Amino acid sequence: SDLVAQGQVAGKRVFIRADLNVPQDDAGHITEDTRIRASIPCIEMALNAGAAVMVTSHLGRPTEGEFKPEDSLAPVAKRMGELMGREILVLANWTDGVTVAPGQLVMLENCRVNKGEKKNNEELAKKMAALCDIFVHDAFGTAHRAEASTYGIAQFAPVACAGPLLAAEMDAISKALLAPKRPLVAIVAGSKVSTKLTILKSLADNVDQLIVGGGIANTFMLAAGLKIGKSLAEPDLLAEATAVIEAMKARGAAVPIPTDVVTAKTFAADAPATIKAATDVADDDLILDIGPQTAQALAEQLKKAGTIVWNGPVGVFEFPAFENGTKVIAHAIAESSAFSIAGGGDTLAAIAKYGIEKQVGYISTGGGAFLEVLEGKTLPAFEILGKRAAG
Ligand code: 3PG
Repeated sequence: SDLVAQGQVAGKRVFIRADLNVPQDDAGHITEDTRIRASIPCIEMALNAGAAVMVTSHLGRPTEGEFKPEDSLAPVAKRMGELMGREILVLANWTDGVTVAPGQLVMLENCRVNKGEKKNNEELAKKMAALCDIFVHDAFGTAHRAEASTYGIAQFAPVACAGPLLAAEMDAISKALLAPKRPLVAIVAGSKVSTKLTILKSLADNVDQLIVGGGIANTFMLAAGLKIGKSLAEPDLLAEATAVIEAMKARGAAVPIPTDVVTAKTFAADAPATIKAATDVADDDLILDIGPQTAQALAEQLKKAGTIVWNGPVGVFEFPAFENGTKVIAHAIAESSAFSIAGGGDTLAAIAKYGIEKQVGYISTGGGAFLEVLEGKTLPAFEILGKRAAG
């Protein structure tokens, strides 16, 4: 947007790397188009400024060098075209040259089909860079990858900068984690501690409350000396969970352990649900949600929060009998005056299910990228764009 304001975009060839990696059903229909919608402002900004615009993205994880019809961005171009009210041409075999006129928009076929994309091959990146005058990285969902169309091209393009989505994502995350209004409450849930251990450790140094849910909470319950029956947990990580609890305690912060839970004997939507005290879990019980007392207590904390970071539903919210915890948390976030930020596929599905999109401060388009930022990592996108900006 700075370049647009400076009048440096008119007549230029602008190459936009977006993240248009959206879910599709078996028939190839797009089932969720948030990423497409989120990518349009950057494209429109370039078009309105008089640029010749190329946009590309990966879609799925295709085999490099072997283009199959299901790898095509054609359905994405169709959906984007409907949203923008224009037809968008999809170009295949584009690395050797692209013809595009000022004011025109073309979509370059799935960039991950190009040999060398994933490994950030220098020759491929230089070919891509040669297609443009300005490279715009607007793919926050892919900001944690250093591939030819995200990293190499940013090294070699004449000008490389961040697009508005990439910038907005980083602003929201910085607001939540670097200069938060306190108390800062994080909800980290999901099936495994192992996949989110780095996040838990990183947040343990920063947040005032660390609410754990799902299988992660089960491991923390074990660490607190509670029995969890045959619930999903990682007993190997008890020492790590204890270390997180201790680190939080040492700062006067807390990891609330559930006081009640919703259990079943089998993992099924129609399994009878029983609410139990956390101290009464039987050997053959599966914990599938936090109990109503725990949910209410957490909701009170969320209402008092200054900032909320949410990643992961706290129970099996896809099954109505085990959705209460996630539903109560979602509504508490919606009602809280805190600045809230949420990310991750399951979290977005919960937000959509409870219709609270408008009440969440910022919904990230990142899955893995959002998690890596929570881990405290500097993502490759920001590293290379920072280097370019520094000259
Ligand atoms: C995502 O969906 O998280 C991004 O588009 C990145 O996809 P990838 O994990 O296949 O690199």
